[in-house]
Amino acid sequence: MSNLIVDIVVGLQAGDEGKGKVTHHLLKERDYTHCVRYNGGGNAGHTIYHEGKKFVTHLVPAGVFYGIKSIVGPGCVVDINNFFKEIQMLNDNGIDTDGLIYIAENAHIVQSRHLQEDGSDTKIGTTRTGNGPAYRDKYARHGLRAKDVDALQPYLINFFNEMHRTDANVVALFEGAQGFQLDVDWGDYPYVTSSHCTTAGALLNGIPPRCVRDVWGVAKMYETYVGAKNFQPADEIFTDIQRVGKEFGATTGRPRQCNWINYDMLSRSILINGANHVVFNKVDILREVDAWHLRINGRSTSELIFQNEEQMKDYLTKSFPDSTLYFSDNPESFELCA
Ligand code: IMP
Ligand code: MG
Repeated sequence: MSNLIVDIVVGLQAGDEGKGKVTHHLLKERDYTHCVRYNGGGNAGHTIYHEGKKFVTHLVPAGVFYGIKSIVGPGCVVDINNFFKEIQMLNDNGIDTDGLIYIAENAHIVQSRHLQEDGSDTKIGTTRTGNGPAYRDKYARHGLRAKDVDALQPYLINFFNEMHRTDANVVALFEGAQGFQLDVDWGDYPYVTSSHCTTAGALLNGIPPRCVRDVWGVAKMYETYVGAKNFQPADEIFTDIQRVGKEFGATTGRPRQCNWINYDMLSRSILINGANHVVFNKVDILREVDAWHLRINGRSTSELIFQNEEQMKDYLTKSFPDSTLYFSDNPESFELCA
């Protein structure tokens, strides 16, 4: 038996929930030997404040900020040029990545034809990073794996051997990309990404369920979505939330459409992901616009309207008694709800 312990950070909504912040915080507070990205590729954009400086990463796991071995896992797809650019960006900004960054040998490669194809997407509103075509070719069994690319040889790692070591304890933080509503199986198909964004997606990287310790689900106090479908209702409160919350895509710069939390989807997401910890980010944004709403009953327009912050927090806390809830009102940290 291996001595592996895994914590997972997973998105409960449509990405951009603040997983980067939670990951960064956990890496600082707990002792991890490894940090692993488990799905997606350069389509993700993680905003991280490290020692007061803002970083936007797309592929490289946040472990590098703390000198922790950081691996792009087997469930990911890698755009080689962007991978090297990101390492350069980190180095240029004073982050030493030497000997810290690895790619699983069996991760797949985003090829130029994937970029070309995705570049002309108008149907889904993809990030045009070649993600979907790369995963399609993986499943069609004519993809290219990292181990077959010469330029990546110094970065390759046998992921199984690294995780299931017999000579040392491995305590790994798995960081997810995107979120439940973009999951290829559970999201709003076809407006989804092409990977598994749930806790199960982390397990697909060769992790036995019994090795999972904590699952950190991350949500916002409202929802955002970037892509081609219509998501934001006409009410101007949502343009206020978008402005105050600076809701513009970290990867594409596109404005993120805003709406209230879809409570039913959130409940399902917490359940399916098995999130025993749930962080609600951006409480400060709703505080600023002073409106506290939830959408209920699926897609209908039914809403629960709270009088104030405490009422909404109280409702959420009572709704999810099996999870520990945290609320955050700043980009750098979060606190346990009393
Ligand atoms: P793709 O992942 O680039 O194929 O895009 C599919 C859908 O997922 C589009 O609606 C994208 O905007 C969305 N998406 C992909 N990655 C992210 C992310 O990291 N945050 C938010 N939306 C994302
Ligand atoms: Mg993002």
